[in-house]
Amino acid sequence: MENNYQDLLTYIEVETGFRCTNYKERPLKRRLMVRLRALNIENYEKYLLFLKQHPEELKTLLDVLTINLSYFFRNPETFDFIKQRVIPILKQESGSLIFWSAGCAKGEEPYSLAIMAGEAGLLERTTIYATDIDSVALDRAQQGRFQNLSFQFLDAHLKDEYFIPDKNCFVIKEKIRQHVIFRKHDIFEKFPFGYCNLIMCRNVLIYLDRNAQSVIINNFYEQLKEKGFLVLGKVELLIGILSIKRFNVISRNEHVYQKGHYAESS
Ligand SMILES: C[S@@+](CC[C@H](N)C(=O)[O-])C[C@H]1O[C@@H](n2cnc3c(N)ncnc32)[C@H](O)[C@@H]1O
Repeated sequence: MENNYQDLLTYIEVETGFRCTNYKERPLKRRLMVRLRALNIENYEKYLLFLKQHPEELKTLLDVLTINLSYFFRNPETFDFIKQRVIPILKQESGSLIFWSAGCAKGEEPYSLAIMAGEAGLLERTTIYATDIDSVALDRAQQGRFQNLSFQFLDAHLKDEYFIPDKNCFVIKEKIRQHVIFRKHDIFEKFPFGYCNLIMCRNVLIYLDRNAQSVIINNFYEQLKEKGFLVLGKVELLIGILSIKRFNVISRNEHVYQKGHYAESS
């Protein structure tokens, strides 16, 4: 059974590039079971056979493995903190700003960053890179069409200001969309778009094992400009991950870190 499981992981990695072996085993197995049950397949060996015979299943599997759930201004208190404590510092920077939403899913997070930059008068000099390994999610993100579920944390006036209702959806306005660049990218790889003023990576590391978390935190450090900010998810508890100690803690509650400047607040 365990050999079959490893064979299945290796096959998925080779065919999709999704590095299963760096992800925590329990959630991974739980998500694989979703597909096995849906197809009425009783074990990993038979599922591997099925994948080889039905390569189109890889797409569905990847969709299940990479949970894409997201919301505009998810954890609003984190965005409030960034607005009050981080944006004023970024405003003092001269020249263009680069934000990176790593693991952006269907786009709610990078569009939230763009809206926040817009409200702060920073949008014209800000580019938001939004990356994910899931091409289906990225296609959806690029379309910029969202249903009500995504809006539960967004103030009504911001929804009116930045979205156009269309049938049963809301479409992000061009003035926001043009500042967000979506690209397929694996967070294990080097980020090829320059050094960032702010990296937001939320609800991604939680699925990874500790070694992988450590490597990625190191990559983020290298990828930030001096005094750049890293924002992790509220669920991401990096206890014992040494690479996070390279950062200064800006907010323990909101998991906001800074490269090279100390100003702890909460
Ligand atoms: C739960 S969503 C998080 C969306 C958003 N960051 C948020 O917090 O609302 C997790 C996203 O991480 C992406 N992801 C998982 N592993 C990744 C990797 N190695 N590289 C890039 N994206 C990854 C998934 O495809 C998925 O879209």
